Amino acid sequence: MTGHSQPEYTDFDIAIVTGGSKGIGRATALRLAKEGANVVINYSSDASAADEVVNLIGADRSLAVKADAGNIAELERLVTETVTKFGKIDILVPNAGVMLMKDLETTTEHDFEMSMALNIKGPYFLAQKAAPHIAPGSHIIFLSTTLCATSTVTPNYLLYVTTKGAVEQMTRVMSKDLARKGVSVMLGKSEQVFKMIAGFSPQNRIGTPEEIADVVAFLSGNGSKWITGQTVRVNGGMA
Ligand SMILES: NC(=O)c1ccc[n+]([C@@H]2O[C@H](COP(=O)([O-])OP(=O)(O)OC[C@H]3O[C@@H](n4cnc5c(N)ncnc54)[C@H](OP(=O)(O)O)[C@@H]3O)[C@@H](O)[C@H]2O)c1
Repeated sequence: MTGHSQPEYTDFDIAIVTGGSKGIGRATALRLAKEGANVVINYSSDASAADEVVNLIGADRSLAVKADAGNIAELERLVTETVTKFGKIDILVPNAGVMLMKDLETTTEHDFEMSMALNIKGPYFLAQKAAPHIAPGSHIIFLSTTLCATSTVTPNYLLYVTTKGAVEQMTRVMSKDLARKGVSVMLGKSEQVFKMIAGFSPQNRIGTPEEIADVVAFLSGNGSKWITGQTVRVNGGMA
């Protein structure tokens, strides 16, 4: 951690989690808050779920911001509201994503553009807009999927895995770009929700959001400062 005036935040400081009101994002927001972070909870439509997370963390240490994480202008506002309330950004988790089950034949232009906007354009430009407010020693953690590495992936994941493949390359090269600022960029790969997928796992089960959040918390802390540009597979040995 660098330059923080509140000593109780020894490892974690100001975090933004897009899609932080549900699923992996919610578990990550709560885990980072447990470690001492102030957390901005981004969501797109369900204010009550976001408010619930804010209430759990405490309104003095948390903020809910409604913004489309696939829209650059709205992401810029998310950054502005974060910096206005908390002054800077130490941990960026562009977690919000969409998984449309589309193979080549069934993908429409709208499906493609929507998936690219939320899964790629949003994380890319959120990092760009946040970068001026990110101090050396900070962390950006993107989310991918184990399906990028499994040979058993089925054709209806084509569109989704195409977007996450781009995120993996973005992570690899952005880490070199932001290394000049001392910022580490990493990627957590999580497993699929569907029961069927559990059968592909050596442990015969799917992971929990909390198990993903544990790894994001590690990647967000000082203990991971010599890791950057890596894909960390959080999948129980599935791939
Ligand atoms: N779940 C898995 O097994 C799995 C597997 C591999 C990878 N991942 C990746 O992990 C990430 C989280 O997945 P998840 O399954 O936890 O997601 P999820 O449960 O579907 O996440 C929902 C959250 O995302 C928000 N959201 C949706 N669209 C948004 C938008 N356009 N702008 C801002 N926020 C938006 C929702 O807010 P509202 O409710 O207000 O709309 C809510 O907070 C994704 O990137 C996903 O691809 C997940």
